[in-house]
Amino acid sequence: MKVAALIPAAGSGTRLGLGPKAFVEVVGVSLLARSVAALAPHVDEVVVALPEGWTLPADVPARAIVGGQTRQDSVRLLLEATHAEVVLVHDAARPFLPAEVVRAVRAAAQAVGAATAALPVADTLVRASGEPPETGQTWGELTPREGLWAVQTPQGFRRGVLREAHARARADAHAATDDAGLVARLGGPVALVPGDARLFKVTTPGDLALATALAAVWDA
Ligand code: C5P
Repeated sequence: MKVAALIPAAGSGTRLGLGPKAFVEVVGVSLLARSVAALAPHVDEVVVALPEGWTLPADVPARAIVGGQTRQDSVRLLLEATHAEVVLVHDAARPFLPAEVVRAVRAAAQAVGAATAALPVADTLVRASGEPPETGQTWGELTPREGLWAVQTPQGFRRGVLREAHARARADAHAATDDAGLVARLGGPVALVPGDARLFKVTTPGDLALATALAAVWDA
């Protein structure tokens, strides 16, 4: 069975402020190159969605397409660019991807149809309320964290399952921040596979500092 890794990497990286985020380097290696290197040994092909006008460095073993306006558009275009029966969708912005997680997501996707890496929430969760001018937001309603998981990538799917979910989302003009949510929205089962704290998404300058520290151990 052919398996493809699909990497949406076409974001502009506005919150980080260093240009397209996938090309930002952590200890000399870009987020994109790190993500591709983590997935390539486990799949038959890697397809990457890049911002218009950007090209893949020669040493990154993948095929590139131009991404879309949103992450959801980029993933839909990636799906159209492969014939693999199983796809693993992974954010370029999550560069530290352990092999065990890739294997577990792939196996669960093949068995269930859809699967995502995710971690049980460890922090207390509260909805912020109001915006007092001097102190900022205040403590509103507490949300019990029991049974709550924070969703990561990779997310694995039988390709037909994800294509259907994207087609329906597009027809309904429904926007989502991930792909497993589109499948769940149609009532399809999505397996939750234990992810990894190191799979955090590099979004802010603070995340980049964390990534730099982690790379010293990861690359050793
Ligand atoms: O913006 P955010 O951090 O949620 O982006 C998650 C992933 O989706 C990133 O790897 C980013 O490059 C990608 N993306 C994309 N096309 C867009 C927007 C984001 O491929 N239009």
